[in-house]
Amino acid sequence: MLLAAIALPFVGNAYAQHAARPGATAAATINGYTPMWWKEAVVYQVYPRSFKDSNGDGIGDLPGITSKLDYLQQLGVNVIWLSPHYDSPNADNGYDIRDYRKVMKEFGTMADFDALLAGIKQRHMRLIIDLVVNHTSDEHRWFVESRKSKDNPYRDYYFWRDGKGPGQPPNNYPSFFSGSAWQYDPTTKQYYLHYFAVKQPDLNWDNPKVRAEVYDLMKFWLDKGVDGFRMDVIPLISKPTGLPDLTPEQLRHVDRAYANGPHMHEYLQEMNREVLSKYDVMTVGEALGISLEQTPLMVSDERHELNMIFNFDAVRINRDGRQWKSWTLPQLKAIYAKHAEELDAHSWDTVFLSNHDNPRLVSSFGDDSPEYRVASAKLLETMLLTLRGTPFIYQGDELGMTNYPFKGIGDYNDIEAKNGYKADVLTGKVSEAAYLENLRHMSRDNARTPMQWDGSANGGFTTGTPWLAVNPNYKEINAAEEVQDPHSVYLYTRSMIALRHKTPALVYGTYEDLDPANPAIFAYTRTLGAERYLVVLNFSDKAMDYAIPGGLKPTQLLMTNLGSTEGNTSTLHLKGWEARVYRY
Ligand code: NOJ
Repeated sequence: MLLAAIALPFVGNAYAQHAARPGATAAATINGYTPMWWKEAVVYQVYPRSFKDSNGDGIGDLPGITSKLDYLQQLGVNVIWLSPHYDSPNADNGYDIRDYRKVMKEFGTMADFDALLAGIKQRHMRLIIDLVVNHTSDEHRWFVESRKSKDNPYRDYYFWRDGKGPGQPPNNYPSFFSGSAWQYDPTTKQYYLHYFAVKQPDLNWDNPKVRAEVYDLMKFWLDKGVDGFRMDVIPLISKPTGLPDLTPEQLRHVDRAYANGPHMHEYLQEMNREVLSKYDVMTVGEALGISLEQTPLMVSDERHELNMIFNFDAVRINRDGRQWKSWTLPQLKAIYAKHAEELDAHSWDTVFLSNHDNPRLVSSFGDDSPEYRVASAKLLETMLLTLRGTPFIYQGDELGMTNYPFKGIGDYNDIEAKNGYKADVLTGKVSEAAYLENLRHMSRDNARTPMQWDGSANGGFTTGTPWLAVNPNYKEINAAEEVQDPHSVYLYTRSMIALRHKTPALVYGTYEDLDPANPAIFAYTRTLGAERYLVVLNFSDKAMDYAIPGGLKPTQLLMTNLGSTEGNTSTLHLKGWEARVYRY
């Protein structure tokens, strides 16, 4: 490939050697940033249920992941984020934890976890795990105790309140998964709070014993050698004082109303002091309800809370609440420009456009038609791997996997989809056709269909019956084909990752959008001293001649998704969905 022939300024991950370790003297800054390994990393998210089944029960498992570590190493990612692997009754696919110190039996044993971690380390990669501590499962020992009586020692581990009146919950809080966020419990005739499913009661972080329990379980995993956490809905841990009713305006943005509680920063700083500061780890918070302006308060390296967060402005550009909507490229560019403006050298960013809660990357942001799927998937990887912030790749996106052709509600597994159907369709609020049409675009299950490993039955994911149907396009889109096809999304993504690893400007460089209003072309530069890179992305299926603003004349073409050789010109002849990276 092109890349191999290019002498780049830094070979391998040489600049990573400067990454600060606890106790090490402060490294020199690069463009104002303190170099850290997690700033230079490319992260790959594994959703274990759907990654690789090793024992034929139809559910992905830890030995399955271990068997694919060479694949991930060859892709070039250096951190793996594992979605929850803990013991769980799976009301929300593991985001409802029954025992934080046990592995989900469908996924294997603690010995399997240890083997996975060892395999990751052997390959010089790192592992971060999901920390889900806003809520537990209702089957967690703490909750089983808590619901027994009003004077149980665990009662205050959760939120229990009397109803407002007979059959009336304590306040008007809605659950993210439809209906009230309160569930009546006949044993003590009180309600408990659950922002998510009925089986996900919210922990009471105002109770110091709860916080101590959380810090303990974090240490349990860190002492095993994990390299950090992705923290589930972390801004929701501190609840509004007195739990007052939400105003009509707050009800329109429930995530904002629930986030940013009065003690959120205090608790995160305590967690940092008690646990995180003692290890060389990375943390990324799922920052539901946190605006970009508020982000530095959570991630600034001067505040000692988290390293980075996921901001959802870009990934959710195509929705209005639960409604799918169209979006424009200038809107997306404006979001990235705002990121660059709000997050200074003290506040590190993330870049991602997909995960297990969102539809497939290429189906949402590219064009998944047979004609443009490959080109547009490559274009999107080009963008993710050249923008500011640590990039997160979701499993299967490196193959250009697409949304699933769902038909009826019976095709879905996700509790969010099923609860929504009951609340909206069965009550007659929304027609079934409209609900299903919207869900087809939005459903989280789009991203949760099993990985497509090869062209054999079930895409090589399992020898049994998969827990969720494999996308029928697995014969054309699968890893075995793509690792040997020089034109595949996989090999292109691998080259892009390699380019990122070799190019400090793509990590620490400044960002400038050259043409914010252009409706089809995204053109930007990343600059670090004399190292200057230009990225040009045609977000349309139309060929066009593009005069680079300012008459800029790039010389050296580093990456192209459509085989162009054009260089040394200030007018580019771009094909539909063409992506190029130049040095100039
Ligand atoms: C966010 C997780 O990503 C999602 O999958 C889950 O349903 C909720 N948090 C509740 O834990």
